[in-house]
Amino acid sequence: MTPPAAIMQEVAGRLRAAKRVAVLTGAGISAESGVPTFRDALTGLWARFRPEELATPEAFARDPALVWRWYRMRRDMVRAAEPNAGHRALVELPRHVPRFTLITQNVDALHRRAGSTDVVELHGDITRARCAGACPRDTSLLHESEWTERDDGPPLCSRCSAASLRPDVVWFGEMLPPAALERATAEAGACDLFLSVGTSNVVEPAASLPWLAARAGAAVVVVNPDMAGQRSGANIHHLAGPAGTILPQLVRAAFPESPASA
Ligand code: OAD
Repeated sequence: MTPPAAIMQEVAGRLRAAKRVAVLTGAGISAESGVPTFRDALTGLWARFRPEELATPEAFARDPALVWRWYRMRRDMVRAAEPNAGHRALVELPRHVPRFTLITQNVDALHRRAGSTDVVELHGDITRARCAGACPRDTSLLHESEWTERDDGPPLCSRCSAASLRPDVVWFGEMLPPAALERATAEAGACDLFLSVGTSNVVEPAASLPWLAARAGAAVVVVNPDMAGQRSGANIHHLAGPAGTILPQLVRAAFPESPASA
């Protein structure tokens, strides 16, 4: 699947001219790394698991061992995955764009592992955990290398020894980290080009970011192999195809002088 050359050229021209670019990524950008998406009909996580049994505060209160095991399985999966050409193209972009913001809904840390140094994480990161009790997040936050797994459930928070650890992710019914949401909203409202990559655009508030950008006058570019359910409009461009192919193509077309384009 290749988008028509004329659309690629049009988008590449806009990207080259843009002073301020914001990118929102979703699970689709990591699909080619072997990390399952959520809503793809046969392979998506929500086709096999029930969100309310695994990704809510109530689920964790009811059965912390089950929820922790599920996140441990997903952590093992993302640790075994490698960033792909789509993640790498987004490491290249800030070298060419005066102001660039990478916003992700993904919790797999693959942008960081690819080399992106400044990532606005809207939904957290499953490679981190924090106290599920009263300890403040910043003083109880641990990377997976800093806790020891137990067989019978989540490890205890080493700071208070009273509550257990929980994954540092946003569950259904929880607030997004306010600073991350504020920054994402501000950048969406002020950019001149907004790329929406590999997201079904159904989970709010992230789902609204591209349309907030469009309303504020930005060109919106959707990168997705399946455009069903994506919005269309005068200033919305569809680059149909997998992110691992489309994003490197776009960077090459916009910045042919880049060493990454050689
Ligand atoms: P979804 O699973 O809802 O959507 C994945 C999107 O990626 C779909 O539109 C696919 O068509 C597209 N896709 C598949 N392969 C692709 C590829 N190779 N390149 C580009 N796109 C591809 O995932 P999200 O939109 O990220 O929230 O889901 C949003 C949130 O819902 C997640 O962050 C998670 C979930 O519940 C929380 O956990 C809070």
